[in-house]
Amino acid sequence: MNFYVLTLFPEMIESGAKTSIIGRAINNGIISLEAVNIRDYSTDRHRHVDDYPYGGGAGMVMQAEPICLACEALKKRIGKQPRVIYMTPQGRTFNQDIAKELASEEELVFLCGHYEGVDERAIEMQVTDCISIGDYVLTGGELPSLVIMDAVSRMVPGVLTNEDSGMNESFEGNLLEYPQYTRPEEYNGSRVPDILLSGHHANIERWRRNQSLLRTAKWRPDLFEKVSLDKHDRKFLRENGFDI
Ligand code: ADE
Repeated sequence: MNFYVLTLFPEMIESGAKTSIIGRAINNGIISLEAVNIRDYSTDRHRHVDDYPYGGGAGMVMQAEPICLACEALKKRIGKQPRVIYMTPQGRTFNQDIAKELASEEELVFLCGHYEGVDERAIEMQVTDCISIGDYVLTGGELPSLVIMDAVSRMVPGVLTNEDSGMNESFEGNLLEYPQYTRPEEYNGSRVPDILLSGHHANIERWRRNQSLLRTAKWRPDLFEKVSLDKHDRKFLRENGFDI
């Protein structure tokens, strides 16, 4: 997976991605990340990349030309027509299904806006997808693009060392993940549930499924719309006071 980020703040992308699991995957050559500075494509003598909005109003708007030049140069270098994702609160809201969909691409290009926005013509000419990371407004698209690269990277084979660890987790099967415990067996008077120490795999699986059902019922009942429940699930939820 090769990520490219068109941004006015390349150091923000580089520093955000160089640590942790993503940093390790970059060092191992499983993924690559390149931050392209849009300002390098300004044809203005002062390297300006923004101007006042036509029609008036507060703030500045990022100009179409440097964005289009940066994007065209990148596409020429890649030699393909990759998906170009504009990070904006107006886009479709990111979720695990979109992460999965994006993980099947070989190249992904992110366009990060700043100021009051981006000249609409750059979006029309270059962008294939608009994605939001939630209903709030950030100062730019850099953090959202890092969020998406993180979620996508961990689905790329080899990025997580234990390939299974991506399977039993929140949103797989559209349920929240069950609680996890590690040593010691007792911490400050609180014990690990006995069943997890029993070695009885079928019972442990059932317990975990039930815990996932309970958490989802309590915290994210909206997710049940997408879950297929069997008769054991329904019985367990009913016994615990949830009529789903
Ligand atoms: N840029 C500013 N706010 C954003 C958001 N919530 N999601 C994606 N890009 C953004």
